[in-house]
Amino acid sequence: MFVVALDSEMVRLNPPVLTDIDEICTGCQDRSIAEWTTLPAPYMRSDAERFVRHTAPSGWSDRSPTWTVRETDDGPVVGMIGLIARDATAGEIGYLLSPAVRSRGLMTAAVNLVCDFAFRSDGMGMERIEWCAFVGNRASAAVARRVGFRFEGVQRAGLVQRGVRRDAWMAGLLADDPRRPVAGWPGYELINVGSPEVLPRTR
Ligand SMILES: CC(C)(COP(=O)(O)OP(=O)(O)OC[C@H]1O[C@@H](n2cnc3c(N)ncnc32)[C@H](O)[C@@H]1OP(=O)(O)O)[C@@H](O)C(=O)NCCC(=O)NCCS
Repeated sequence: MFVVALDSEMVRLNPPVLTDIDEICTGCQDRSIAEWTTLPAPYMRSDAERFVRHTAPSGWSDRSPTWTVRETDDGPVVGMIGLIARDATAGEIGYLLSPAVRSRGLMTAAVNLVCDFAFRSDGMGMERIEWCAFVGNRASAAVARRVGFRFEGVQRAGLVQRGVRRDAWMAGLLADDPRRPVAGWPGYELINVGSPEVLPRTR
């Protein structure tokens, strides 16, 4: 597949390059990233180097693209986002952000961009995007829910984190699904169908 950059008013997404290695390494140091992802912990410079030199390029050649997240063209790397191909028309999305830039909607914007690209016939032509997270990862679930992913349940011992199986929340987004929050996510009660902006959030 072609290597592509994506951007919107809020975010710039670029395929990782060698000059990103140090910033990727710095961005992956936060405890929440070790807690909620399957990245190595502690995350070393050699992990970032392997990712940029090998994992990312082979992903791009295997319908599993990854991008760095920046706020501006010349700003620092503040996050990562990517898709892992599940089959010819489905992939799983994953993402992380540096703590300093959280709670501003950057990742919601990035996930929307990546999903648009994945579903486009001149992008990846996907029909389904999957999201999964360790049970309790409310920050990640809030992003997926905001984008329109539908909660699909709990997979018992569904994910492996550094050799330990943990329960996983599962969700999915289809190409024609509306891009707004829908009922069914744990911790949310839908009290006003049709007015997603008034949905209360309980954490
Ligand atoms: C998951 C993670 C990327 C979410 O980051 P985030 O900053 O909460 O996500 P966003 O950038 O979309 O920001 C959403 C917040 O911005 C606010 N926001 C502001 N403007 C917004 C806009 N235009 N659109 C959407 N949200 C907006 C939202 O209200 C929300 O606020 P909240 O913190 O009260 O929920 C981050 O917590 C993280 O990296 N965690 C560790 C790694 C991880 O868990 N990865 C996922 C593994 S499955």
